[in-house]
Amino acid sequence: MRLVLLGPPGAGKGTQAQRLVEFLQIPHLSTGDMLRDAIAKGTSVGLHAKQFIDQGKLVPDNAVLQLVEQRLELPDCGTGFLLDGFPRSLPQARAVDQFLDGRGEPLDAVIELQVDQEEVIKRLMSRGRGDDKPEVIRQRMITYQEQTKPLSDYYRQGKILHAVDAMGTMDEVFSRMRKAVEQIKVPQR
Ligand code: AP5
Ligand code: MG
Repeated sequence: MRLVLLGPPGAGKGTQAQRLVEFLQIPHLSTGDMLRDAIAKGTSVGLHAKQFIDQGKLVPDNAVLQLVEQRLELPDCGTGFLLDGFPRSLPQARAVDQFLDGRGEPLDAVIELQVDQEEVIKRLMSRGRGDDKPEVIRQRMITYQEQTKPLSDYYRQGKILHAVDAMGTMDEVFSRMRKAVEQIKVPQR
């Protein structure tokens, strides 16, 4: 199954992705993790990305697209994958659609985690990752509203959007995710 997990910062994308990839036996592709890994390794992509991450802004589309497309080429993505935190802008969504359509492997579904703003701020403040400072969280929320939220309509129009209530415990959310995934129709291949 080829899936995208959409949702604001702190919605629980990473948390739920870990459980879902185990359930579905597909790889977890988190662009946030890939970028943090590039920063830790000191690569040129990492050095370039850091300034944007530290400000809560999106890393330029080209850099992220290159990372994702390289990862999608690896053989373990042949049976499917779960994209977490990508795409995050309309140009990214269109580019990955074009890439996947070119391989005859379009996305099967997009799961959108829906959660109150107050709750995500609470979750992020109690985690404390490098970019979980109040002013950066505020900017990440703005970036989400301006650049990522339009993807809900994009995928709704494509008839592959499934909304999941992400309030409640991690177990409650996962059980809703499983139900959503079980309803996704994957064409025979
Ligand atoms: P990224 O790493 O993707 O961060 P994010 O979208 O801001 O989201 P988070 O990872 O903070 O939250 P999450 O939804 O994964 O929640 P989590 O499960 O961790 O991106 C970081 C930066 O990288 C971006 O700002 C940007 O600069 C750059 N970037 C990444 N992708 C990009 C792209 N495609 N294009 C351009 N730039 C890109 O949960 C959060 C906390 O809540 C955890 O502590 C968790 O334990 C807790 N929690 C989870 N679920 C629950 C629950 N049900 N109840 C209580 N606590 C919970
Ligand atoms: Mg995450």
